[in-house]
Amino acid sequence: MAKLIFLLAVQILLLAVVSSTGDGEDFARTMDSKLLGLQKKEKLTHFKLYWHDILSGPNPSSVRIQPPVTNTSSFGAVTMMDNALTAKVQMNSTVVGQAQGFYAAAAQKELGFLMVMNFAFKTGKYNGSTITILGRNTALSEVREMPIVGGSGLFRFARGYVEARTKWINMKNGDATVEYSCYVLHY
Ligand SMILES: *[C@@H]1O[C@H](CO)[C@@H](O)[C@H](O)[C@H]1NC(C)=O
Ligand SMILES: *[C@@H]1O[C@H](CO)[C@@H](O)[C@H](O)[C@H]1NC(C)=O
Ligand SMILES: *[C@@H]1O[C@H](CO)[C@@H](O)[C@H](O)[C@H]1NC(C)=O
Repeated sequence: MAKLIFLLAVQILLLAVVSSTGDGEDFARTMDSKLLGLQKKEKLTHFKLYWHDILSGPNPSSVRIQPPVTNTSSFGAVTMMDNALTAKVQMNSTVVGQAQGFYAAAAQKELGFLMVMNFAFKTGKYNGSTITILGRNTALSEVREMPIVGGSGLFRFARGYVEARTKWINMKNGDATVEYSCYVLHY
């Protein structure tokens, strides 16, 4: 009996403690992941997209917003882009989305960019969904791998990586087409 009373007392005490944490802690709760459909097995989706970085001409899709720190390397240069993503390598092939973000020359001793961009899809079932790429791009390497750090819409909880391969580049004005082979795990 004494034991029972003791247990009851402990429970009342615990209850008091729990209800007193209501002030300021009730914005967070553990929830059932099934409510977001997360009990399903993740899918692996592969896309091959072509990213057109056009700096030249009257309508560039990519604009340098910050010049390099010195004139001996590109370090410090920042370029803002809203580049077309097409289904085929030709620039006039179907546009499936836009690559929006910026790249910044982040390496002092080589050509290396910090890439920060969202691939915003605008066709078919992916219309309105995005994936976010954040990574290191040593642009003169044949293959550059960068992480996919997240996504939205159909790509909620996404993760994965891309492999970037330059298909052509104009060394005079910097215009380039880069193939992005994307491997995305998502629900
Ligand atoms: C690069 O910068 C240095 C120092 O500011 C200057 O003397 C030189 O003329 C510049 N060179 C070019 C090609 O602009
Ligand atoms: C796309 O451009 C190529 C030349 O670069 C041309 O041969 C082709 O006809 C064009 N396609 C369309 C659909 O305009
Ligand atoms: C994509 O979604 C937008 C906004 O809902 C809509 O205006 C547009 O027509 C859609 N495009 C396609 C190709 O379905």
